Amino acid sequence: MTAQLIDGNALSRQLRAEVAQRASTLKTQGTTPGLAVILVGDNSASQVYVRNKVKACEDAGFHSVLEKYDASMTEAELLARVEALNNDPSIHGILVQLPLPKHIDDHKVIETISPAKDVDGFHVASAGALMVGEVGFKACTPYGCMKMLESIGMKDLRGKHAVVIGRSNIVGKPMAMMLLAANATVTITHSGTADLAAMTRQADVVVAAVGKRNVLTADMVKPGAVVIDVGMNRNDEGKLCGDVDFGGVKEVAGFITPVPGGVGPMTITMLLVNTMEAAERASVG
Ligand code: GUN
Repeated sequence: MTAQLIDGNALSRQLRAEVAQRASTLKTQGTTPGLAVILVGDNSASQVYVRNKVKACEDAGFHSVLEKYDASMTEAELLARVEALNNDPSIHGILVQLPLPKHIDDHKVIETISPAKDVDGFHVASAGALMVGEVGFKACTPYGCMKMLESIGMKDLRGKHAVVIGRSNIVGKPMAMMLLAANATVTITHSGTADLAAMTRQADVVVAAVGKRNVLTADMVKPGAVVIDVGMNRNDEGKLCGDVDFGGVKEVAGFITPVPGGVGPMTITMLLVNTMEAAERASVG
């Protein structure tokens, strides 16, 4: 059996076209969706990410602002910038790119972002809203994974068992909450889980979000299962690869997301969706 690919680029194109349409409608009502992206320091991966985020905003017809600061910026200066953006009516979403320099407390910065503008979905209020089923912003990467499941007819996961590998605050934990909200039975595992393969072999859906190659191999997958690969690693040849042994697993799984071209583009797409939503909410007051 060879799994069908879930194409994150194609799905992103479709969703971004829908966002661009919504942006153009909102503009006729006098509001242009606006995203502010803050980058502190010169982390080279972060520079690429923020450039891609700003470019995606421009392509969707959004107003976007990229603020770049030297790594010597103080925490107080950064908090003051976030507060200024909280009060800027032309900005509907604020994203502070992580990681931040060590002398700045990430948590304090995220908690300073107004929950109404927390388009990354990292604020405690956003995480709490997801937990209790209230309106808030969903973290972009797991939200993108849910859209990928929806694209293959798996919006409602009642009766399905989903296993998440990884428990980060920005992927694993919100992913598990979103799967639960979609009525799946959910198991959250991590690198310390005993006999991980015994868990994943029972899963109808496996989401691998560890940040390590070959976390999921063919022998760990139930035939026909859906495999979502959130990993972004480099193989021995320096090529981008995920957490899943793609070559082996695609012979067993029913559906699989590739790396690159899978979850990656969906993260930025969902950032656009969240920013669009923030602008629409702000425009209705
Ligand atoms: N660093 C890596 N991924 C992300 C993300 O989704 N948002 C932010 N703000 N920083 C990141």
